[in-house]
Amino acid sequence: MKIRSLVFLAIALTMAPLGQTLLPDQSEEAVDKYFTKLSHAKPKYEKIRLFIHDVASGPNPSIVPVARANGTAKSKTQFGIVNVVDDRLTTGPEDKSREVGYVQGVYVSASKENVSLLVALNFVFTNKEYNGSTLSVLGRIAEFSDNREFPVLGGSGCFRLAQGIVVAKVHSADASTGNRIVECRFHFLHY
Ligand SMILES: *[C@@H]1O[C@H](CO)[C@@H](O)[C@H](O)[C@H]1NC(C)=O
Ligand SMILES: *[C@@H]1O[C@H](CO)[C@@H](O)[C@H](O)[C@H]1NC(C)=O
Ligand SMILES: *[C@@H]1O[C@H](CO)[C@@H](O)[C@H](O)[C@H]1NC(C)=O
Repeated sequence: MKIRSLVFLAIALTMAPLGQTLLPDQSEEAVDKYFTKLSHAKPKYEKIRLFIHDVASGPNPSIVPVARANGTAKSKTQFGIVNVVDDRLTTGPEDKSREVGYVQGVYVSASKENVSLLVALNFVFTNKEYNGSTLSVLGRIAEFSDNREFPVLGGSGCFRLAQGIVVAKVHSADASTGNRIVECRFHFLHY
């Protein structure tokens, strides 16, 4: 009996993950249950600090222009150019920092007068804790403004009904390669 419970304990210990995956059940029934319980739920305030790695040149860029208008080349704001990104997302600014996912989306030059970009990004988590969860960000970058605040419009998995703000700041930029590391500080509520 004693040995048996020790064996069970040993199995339980070897199976226990270090960081538990928090992804909720994503079946339609479970989503329905989630909403019916929502009136009792308190919003959780979450703060997450992450770094995006833009690789603009080299054999394997993570940001690529995919389309432009006839007039883009002549436009002082590159009006009409569309860039697609699939950047690494890490917990620190270093190349070797722990990877927690990807940032996938588009940057579109959407102003004829002054440079301003439409930004639509999905933060896709692949680390143990948030594996399979996403945060969706939609916003604007105005070149001559220090305002780098973007709305967090929603999320999935662990971040359902996310609503908040991400404050982004260029951590470092290499003028010769165009590579950039951007710090993102998320502040949001979710249920
Ligand atoms: C774009 O430019 C090409 C070549 O100059 C021309 O054939 C084409 O009709 C233009 N397209 C539009 C939508 O203006
Ligand atoms: C463009 O920027 C200039 C200089 O900052 C400003 O005076 C002007 O109002 C801006 N134009 C638009 C359409 O935002
Ligand atoms: C994340 O989920 C995928 C698909 O379910 C799985 O293949 C992968 O091993 C998971 N990663 C971690 C770190 O748990």
